[in-house]
Amino acid sequence: MDEPENIKWHYSKVAKEQRRDLNNHKSAVVWFTGLSGSGKSTISVELEKELHQLGIRTYHLDGDNVRHGLNKDLGFGPDDRKENIRRIGEVSKLMVEAGLLTLAAFISPYCADRDEIRKMMESGEFIEVFVDASIETCKSRDPKGLYKKVRAGEITGFTGIDAPYEAPVNPEITVNTDQKSVEESVQTIMSYLKTKGYLI
Ligand code: PPS
Repeated sequence: MDEPENIKWHYSKVAKEQRRDLNNHKSAVVWFTGLSGSGKSTISVELEKELHQLGIRTYHLDGDNVRHGLNKDLGFGPDDRKENIRRIGEVSKLMVEAGLLTLAAFISPYCADRDEIRKMMESGEFIEVFVDASIETCKSRDPKGLYKKVRAGEITGFTGIDAPYEAPVNPEITVNTDQKSVEESVQTIMSYLKTKGYLI
């Protein structure tokens, strides 16, 4: 995109790599995508706890929480969801620049929106985690009673019911929460982060 008129970029004298060196680990965003009730928040919260205990500097961004503040002006129509994810992508990029291992848990239903974030980041900085659970499983869990409200006609445009969810085509990691426990899913992601050298 062209630089906006009258606005100039200021360069920092501390580089992202120097912040990473100080932290003794890499920075990246672990991006959780999946249906409501698939387990994004649960797994990402447990993963952050484990990373923190290992001395990794983290931050956790979650759909419900961000919609209380930064994105409280946005709803669930396609344009607002796109803007929601665009803003979180920008915030995630800043956090990666700051040297943090960032965990982002958003339905993020559109492939194109997730791919835009991947393009904004450098190679290896965007780790897409598909939290895969069938809609039947999500409906039966219904942790917030939202699927019940959908059935009662109190919510429309709900992801996976009458709004689309586009599963990732080539995610770095897939955790199938129909079959795996929270702990198993956390360990799958931990082992990816260790093997790929993010934690050193
Ligand atoms: S999105 O699609 O990425 O913009 O959604 P996100 O910011 O992650 O917010 C999802 C949470 O909002 C609640 N909620 C809905 N989800 C989907 N569709 C509709 N219509 C809707 N209305 C409210 C719901 O609690 C989602 O949280 P999770 O954790 O995914 O269940």
